[in-house]
Amino acid sequence: MAAESRRFRDPEEVSSELETAREIKEGFASRGLVGERAPGYFIRTFGCQQNEADSERLAGLCEAMGYSPVPVPEAAKLILVNTCAIREHAEKKALSIIGSFKHVKDADPDVVIGVGGCMAAEEHRANTLKMSYPYVDFVFEPASAYSLPSLVKDAARGRRRFVRESGDAIAEGIPTVRESSHSVWLSVMYGCNNFCSYCIVPYVRGRERSRRPDDIIEEAKRLVDGGAKNITLLGQNVNSYGKDSDGCCDIAELMRRICRIDGDFELRFMTSHPKDASDELIDAIAEEPKIVKHFHLPVQSGSDRILKLMNRHYDRERYLSVVDKLRARVPDVTLTSDIIVGFPGEEEEDFLDTLDLMRRVRYDMIFSFIYSPRVGTPAAKMEPRVPREVSAERMERLLALGTELSEERNSRFVGRTLRVLADGVSRTDPGMMTGRGSPARPVHFPGGEELTGKFVNVKIKSAGAFWVGGEIE
Ligand code: SAH
Ligand code: SF4
Ligand code: F3S
Repeated sequence: MAAESRRFRDPEEVSSELETAREIKEGFASRGLVGERAPGYFIRTFGCQQNEADSERLAGLCEAMGYSPVPVPEAAKLILVNTCAIREHAEKKALSIIGSFKHVKDADPDVVIGVGGCMAAEEHRANTLKMSYPYVDFVFEPASAYSLPSLVKDAARGRRRFVRESGDAIAEGIPTVRESSHSVWLSVMYGCNNFCSYCIVPYVRGRERSRRPDDIIEEAKRLVDGGAKNITLLGQNVNSYGKDSDGCCDIAELMRRICRIDGDFELRFMTSHPKDASDELIDAIAEEPKIVKHFHLPVQSGSDRILKLMNRHYDRERYLSVVDKLRARVPDVTLTSDIIVGFPGEEEEDFLDTLDLMRRVRYDMIFSFIYSPRVGTPAAKMEPRVPREVSAERMERLLALGTELSEERNSRFVGRTLRVLADGVSRTDPGMMTGRGSPARPVHFPGGEELTGKFVNVKIKSAGAFWVGGEIE
């Protein structure tokens, strides 16, 4: 029970925030600021799916406070930036956007500006925001997003606040405004315990905390009733779902229980850590028709020496054995991965091991990143650093191989009919739609807006490295 109460925020804390939201809304209403006259909110999100899901909760809180979404920051009375800290580039981009909002505050001093997300949880960045960005009213770490209403209330009274390390207990019951009703994120856990030596996530998002299975299933039911056709379960390492709570089900059982919900929908999950990819999870993927046959299994490097320095807790043999098991149980599985190039001490030989592993696995797609030192992580102090030109040159070779493998893998779909969830009309070609196939994606096919959110059968006629194309049957 004690562990339970540490894992979850006191529901009273959440209801008190929702009460504050109601007060703010009533305040706007008493001044006639409702409907078309409601004050605007604008959220800029950086980073991964977890941040996108967090921003949907921030949007829910903004609307509970009586704000309405606006398309540009200049039209907003409340501007939120949800930042990412994974690489230097992500932080630079966020800081530059935050800088660009100064002119909005100059034009209208009543505008409230808040900065949240992973960068906001780093002490040195929070200090920079405090000292060098005086027009930022408040800064909050990811686990404190639930307290947005009181942060906004204090800002309106002229009180600047900087919330760090307020504890990382889960806040249930936050209203959520989702970007899409047919394709939705569903957070199942927060944080990470793995401390890969290069990664900032455990420092900014805290330890692993799993939501209760019943809360997740209840939310999944509501989403399916509301028209969700694609549900993606989210966590930094969904394979360790439930390990922090006694007697709770694991990710495989959780997914099987979600699959039992009546309705025509597909289930995805991300991300998985190879050290925890269990046989039960592989069985669930193989056996449950609603689970999309896609496994994102980040390898990071193909060199045992580098994997050790990265503190990944597996070697290439163990990784390849998971892949073999998966391919044996789910022959058509789509396998994707993340790879870091230029980790400190990476020699040409280590890099060749990575290329070799890619050839052996034959990934459908890889997401590759040049190593970026993160303040406070062990790898930031490791030597020797790989020179930028060397990393860039390795990256080019890796991308060339990745593209070749993706083309080869995507060509397996040509001539087949795939069940595809139509996601929306293409931005560049209005006669074409983009969809998620099971398991290929993206799938391009001629179609119109009326198909968005519907399943269609597409006969695949062509394939490139990053897409497959066809026509509805
Ligand atoms: N929890 C996920 C990864 C989240 S971060 C997992 O373990 O798979 C997404 C990816 O960013 C990581 O897989 C890694 O490839 C990359 N990444 C993380 N820290 C990085 C750093 N300091 N420099 C470059 N890439 C990094
Ligand atoms: Fe970062 Fe490793 Fe955790 Fe993934 S598993 S979030 S790479 S520390
Ligand atoms: Fe970035 Fe935080 Fe996600 S650091 S990648 S937004 S968990």
